[in-house]
Amino acid sequence: MKGGNNYRLRGRNLSLTLAVLIVTTIALWAWEKNPFSNTLPSAQERYIIPSSDFHADTRNESAVSWNPMEKIGENSSQVIITAAAKGEEKHFGTAPVDAISTIIPEMIDSTSSSQTKICNYAKGRWVADSRRPLYSGFGCKQWLSGMWACRLTQREDFSYEGYRWQPENCEMPEFERLTFLERMQDKTIAFIGDSLGRQQFQSLMCMASGGEESPEVENVGKKYGLVKARGAIRPDGWAYRFPKTNTTILYYWSASLSDLVPLNISDRTTDVAMHLDRPPAFMRQFLNQFDVLVLNTGHHWNRGKLNANRWVMHVDGKPNEDNKLAEIRNAKNFTIYSIVRWLDSQLPSHPHLKVFFRTISPRHFVNGDWNTGGTCDNTIPLSGGSEVVQDESSDPVIEGAVNGTRVKILDITAISQLRDEGHMSHYSIRGTPGGNDCLHWCLPGIPDTWNELLIAQI
Ligand SMILES: *[C@@H]1O[C@H](CO)[C@@H](O)[C@H](O)[C@H]1NC(C)=O
Ligand SMILES: *[C@@H]1O[C@H](CO)[C@@H](O)[C@H](O)[C@H]1NC(C)=O
Ligand SMILES: *[C@@H]1O[C@H](CO)[C@@H](O)[C@H](O)[C@H]1NC(C)=O
Ligand SMILES: *[C@@H]1O[C@H](CO)[C@@H](O)[C@H](O)[C@H]1NC(C)=O
Ligand SMILES: *[C@@H]1O[C@H](CO)[C@@H](O)[C@H](O)[C@H]1NC(C)=O
Ligand SMILES: *[C@@H]1O[C@H](CO)[C@@H](O)[C@H](O)[C@H]1NC(C)=O
Repeated sequence: MKGGNNYRLRGRNLSLTLAVLIVTTIALWAWEKNPFSNTLPSAQERYIIPSSDFHADTRNESAVSWNPMEKIGENSSQVIITAAAKGEEKHFGTAPVDAISTIIPEMIDSTSSSQTKICNYAKGRWVADSRRPLYSGFGCKQWLSGMWACRLTQREDFSYEGYRWQPENCEMPEFERLTFLERMQDKTIAFIGDSLGRQQFQSLMCMASGGEESPEVENVGKKYGLVKARGAIRPDGWAYRFPKTNTTILYYWSASLSDLVPLNISDRTTDVAMHLDRPPAFMRQFLNQFDVLVLNTGHHWNRGKLNANRWVMHVDGKPNEDNKLAEIRNAKNFTIYSIVRWLDSQLPSHPHLKVFFRTISPRHFVNGDWNTGGTCDNTIPLSGGSEVVQDESSDPVIEGAVNGTRVKILDITAISQLRDEGHMSHYSIRGTPGGNDCLHWCLPGIPDTWNELLIAQI
């Protein structure tokens, strides 16, 4: 989990509080007793543990909890955990070394032994790579929606497919689908969010299957109640299981990440209560079955969408009467903070679960918006630059909401901002002119990178 949310605090508020841990290092103690010691260098050496794996209590510097510790019953040998910020070190206690070797082996960056290396996945650059894309845009018909398969449209330039993201200071293991599935043995990865979350889900299905026909992959939507209702265009989500490794990947549509409850169930035109402070029922019901949960929201937070869906904001079980909160921007912020707080409260009792909040996917409409003739016609990759140098996220709402919690940020905003040529643009599978989609991405394409970053941080 080399997530760098704490690192991104650098330069803002580098006080001595634990919340500003930049790099957490681990010194081994009694390492020779540890069965995994052959993979671990000498006791004098130090290991960087991503600070995002530590939950620091800013009110009390001696109270620090470390998520993986909750999984560990016995201590064969111990490590001393220290955190370093601006050259100062603090000692936080000890933890069993097994936790480090077995649960989070990729966290031990043995190449960085003595010098401190800081990892922020969102900082780095796009580089051309002939091993991209990870699957063919002509294939993956089992999971890839035709509307997002740019190879099936009139588009002729596909140079946007040939890049990968190289973080500045993080190891990015090359994606290898069988290794990935083995790592995800008996695990369930859930995406909950809007259509951009659905894109990320389809991307991961294509990556995991290599885009090849995979008749053995089982549709397990029913287990999660994901079946098409009568008269519906599609179900609320999809769930598939790779039988060899018993890995399930699912998606549930929840554009606002709030609980939606029709006010009159027997009336098809009823208003819908949108509970800003209550996670979707689906999430509450199935949370204990997830090992990895990836959330996103953002583009449905506008008055037009709320009105069209007849969503009526509710707080504390009642219609919202706070005018300030009723402003879309505030309601969105309130909802995001609420759901992060709820998940943070759930994580101690779900020790196998890792939760990521994906930052907003940028839109690239120029000379207008989606409904006023905006376009995104550039096809030349990275014409606006290929690097992200900033430390902080371009999505301060998500960055702020997860700050100091056990929920991790999957920061893709600035990275994707550089890829305006990767959208659907005016191409469509039917070839009819008209709309410009500068919101959704071609697949294969940018969301594949989001998944590579996710996998690197799992
Ligand atoms: C801080 O936490 C430590 C260990 O949990 C506890 O002993 C101490 O009383 C706490 N101090 C304050 C000020 O809460
Ligand atoms: C684990 O560590 C604690 C405190 O350091 C010690 O009291 C206990 O005996 C240890 N347990 C085992 C199984 O070594
Ligand atoms: C598949 O994994 C789940 C846990 O995610 C487990 O409960 C189930 O027993 C496994 N099924 C098989 C056939 O191994
Ligand atoms: C719910 O809708 C049905 C059908 O439109 C209507 O007959 C009924 O009166 C409504 N119930 C309430 C409590 O408004
Ligand atoms: C979002 O909500 C949090 C928690 O209530 C608050 O601290 C923060 O200032 C809000 N941010 C914005 C942009 O409104
Ligand atoms: C995170 O929280 C700490 C402590 O409350 C604060 O100093 C810091 O500015 C916050 N960072 C962000 C990015 O919100």
